[in-house]
Amino acid sequence: MVDENRRNTIKILIGTTAAVGAGMLATPLVASIIDGRAGYVKPETTGAVKVEICKDVNSCPKELGVPLDELRNGPVFKLIRVNSMAIPAVFGLIRATDGKEYPAAYVAICTHFGCPLNVMGGKYLTGFNCPCHGSVFTVCNKPEGCGNARFLEMYVSGGPAVRSLRSIVVAVKDGVVYPLVAHI
Ligand code: FES
Repeated sequence: MVDENRRNTIKILIGTTAAVGAGMLATPLVASIIDGRAGYVKPETTGAVKVEICKDVNSCPKELGVPLDELRNGPVFKLIRVNSMAIPAVFGLIRATDGKEYPAAYVAICTHFGCPLNVMGGKYLTGFNCPCHGSVFTVCNKPEGCGNARFLEMYVSGGPAVRSLRSIVVAVKDGVVYPLVAHI
């Protein structure tokens, strides 16, 4: 069950998030992409409401996915439509300290008062900043975690927000990154 207030907030934000940018660099990838990692799942965000986008990667409509080739140029914004909702999402590649690259996606709405966020990073997604009150979110790129933040968590590195960004569980199949579950 999706909280009505939160659902309405998401709907209101649809019209204002189209400008969430994607850093575009043409530098080729050096390390290899982890394809075939269909089972990869990020940890859930505490306190979020779970919305199923696709039951599994095999039944996910092609139009919901983002090709890894596109992500190699930088983060990609995508509006994910689920029933009556449209979730503003940013897909990107995270360069981890283990030298590998991990596809990930996040709901691009500030957890402070719901402003649309700006993407940080170039070829790799490194974080988001909020134009409203200055919150900054940084991805934990250490497989062992970053203090209280878990691997791939987009944690608050600058206030006033206090909650990490909502995550989207992704899976990769045939070179395409699909969103499976959103936490909004
Ligand atoms: S809405 Fe983002 S910092 Fe306030």
